[in-house]
Amino acid sequence: MPVRVAVIPAAGLGTRFLPATKVVPKELLPVFDTPSLQHTVDEALGAGIDHIVLVSNRAKPAIETFAEKASGGARITVVYQDAPRGLGHAVECAREQVGDASFAVMLPDELMGDSTHLRDLIADHDATGTATIGLKRVPRNEVSAYGCITPQGVPDATGRVGIRDVVEKPNAVDAPSDLVIIGRYVFGRDVFGHLANLKPAAGGELQLSDAIGNMARTGKVNGVLISCSRHDTGTPLGMLTASIDAALRRKDVSTQLRSWLERRLTS
Ligand code: G1P
Repeated sequence: MPVRVAVIPAAGLGTRFLPATKVVPKELLPVFDTPSLQHTVDEALGAGIDHIVLVSNRAKPAIETFAEKASGGARITVVYQDAPRGLGHAVECAREQVGDASFAVMLPDELMGDSTHLRDLIADHDATGTATIGLKRVPRNEVSAYGCITPQGVPDATGRVGIRDVVEKPNAVDAPSDLVIIGRYVFGRDVFGHLANLKPAAGGELQLSDAIGNMARTGKVNGVLISCSRHDTGTPLGMLTASIDAALRRKDVSTQLRSWLERRLTS
């Protein structure tokens, strides 16, 4: 059955973006001229998703307004995670809306250049029936910002690799590989059983990575390496570079921006 539902966790309070997030939720800050969350919604629509479950927080009423006004025609439902109990818990909050169907999870901090990667993950899940996780190879000194996998062998020519285990944000020296999770996942309903059995990790949060690790140790989980461009907008600098990149891709402003940047960088 084609994957039609995507869960987008958006309940965080965006403290890394203060003071910008005093009034405006982080997910609605613009990447150039478009709320960053709209980019995630567009990516979902481009991969065949037609129902989006936004996991928000009652302290962020603007997310509901966005859900009513977002462009593109997707049905958007808002559910709430009012306490910061981790990404695993955020996905659990969407359980009722997701129902029995397979679904995608899309972290809105990660902006993909287009829908190619999500389409690849959905195609792999359709073909294999296993959970399929988006991966990227990063320099060793960056792994500690991510969930990091133990692969089964090396990725094949299409970027597919089995996942043996996952560790959330390891020290670079302890990391099992340089392959990290980049915030795109496709799951069957069985993930909810694993989420329900999670024990809180250090910091008291329920980690989605721990559920994936359990699935990988007791069954089969696939990874697919990303082939399109990507920005991590989890920090103000990442948000800025994503904005510059978005503007450089736009025919109406790219020439002006390019010449301003050249002048600015040589003055
Ligand atoms: C989350 C996940 C982590 C993943 C990352 C991708 O971490 O827990 O496994 O690698 O997103 O951006 P966060 O960045 O929310 O701390």
